[in-house]
Amino acid sequence: MSTKNIDWGNLGFGYIKTDYRYVSNYKDGAWDDGALITDDMVNISECACVLQYSQSCFEGLKAYRTEDGRVVTFRPDLNAERMMDSAKRLEMPQFPKERFIDAIDQVVKANIDYVPPYGSGATLYIRPFMFGSDAIIGVKPANEYQFRAFTTPVGPYFKGGAKPVVVRIPDFDRAAPHGTGNIKAGLNYAMSLHPIMEAHREGFNENMYLDPATRTKVEETGGANIIFITKDNEVVTPLSDSILPSVTRRSIMYIAEHYLGLKATQRVVRFDEVKDFAECGLCGTAAVISPVGKINDHGKEICFPSGMEKMGPVIQKLYDTLTGIQMGRIEAPEGWIHEIK
Ligand code: PLP
Ligand code: COI
Repeated sequence: MSTKNIDWGNLGFGYIKTDYRYVSNYKDGAWDDGALITDDMVNISECACVLQYSQSCFEGLKAYRTEDGRVVTFRPDLNAERMMDSAKRLEMPQFPKERFIDAIDQVVKANIDYVPPYGSGATLYIRPFMFGSDAIIGVKPANEYQFRAFTTPVGPYFKGGAKPVVVRIPDFDRAAPHGTGNIKAGLNYAMSLHPIMEAHREGFNENMYLDPATRTKVEETGGANIIFITKDNEVVTPLSDSILPSVTRRSIMYIAEHYLGLKATQRVVRFDEVKDFAECGLCGTAAVISPVGKINDHGKEICFPSGMEKMGPVIQKLYDTLTGIQMGRIEAPEGWIHEIK
């Protein structure tokens, strides 16, 4: 049961402290056994590598309460693998996949009363992260690390829930060619803070970044991958080495093909062809699938035929199928749903 006194239906995407978090420390070349703790504070050196050189990576996944009352996570194995990829690129020790999945199970179970009720529109967001924790002053990786996972109940990422958003084409880049765009490094988000605040000040919900080398191809937004629907119902998602491999997007492409019988293609998407698509959506754990109504390119608007009132028909079907699978209303492909027992 969701026993906490929270107004589940009116939650935004914010942090609410829950009772337990999982912590494991890495020292002398090995991870300790890990444990659930109640202290939400982190006590580290002022010279910790994460504070000086941003040596950190993170993940994001959710726990869902299903129609029949189970609590489940969605493809946590893919988050575990992606975090291992992030760690490798940042010269951090990898937190083993089985331990990652076990840590998520433990922290969700310990905070089970915070998993929002089925049908409330809210979910329990899980934030695993890892950082270099010992004092480092020359530019090099830390020797000691902490892996930690906390939970927080959340509502929709964009205010207004499933209402279409407006994104702009920024003058900033999200990721350098051959940089860290394809991993979930905290540093990618630090450099997106100024562009996102600028977008908000100008009245836009998000930035749609183009490829930094040529600024002619679509990449992704600061916190979600992008899908487009062609006028003949093909689902298209951009291909690039500097896009985060979204678990949600990979799942949507599978659903499009295997549940809805649609053609699903990952390919380079030129920005000058975007005006010809019928629908556009942002997809991610936090964003789920948020429809895009308009793109503003330095004052020039691209308005999708699906409009500013509701999702277009294909994105709606993808959304219903994805959330149906996550909430246990639709049978999932083998291995997608991980029950917390
Ligand atoms: N792209 C970026 C930059 C993100 O931060 C996220 C969020 O995790 C995503 C895409 C979506 O990834 P996922 O579906 O695995 O949550
Ligand atoms: C997620 O979707 O889990 C993310 O990490 C994106 C972030 C913008 C909240």
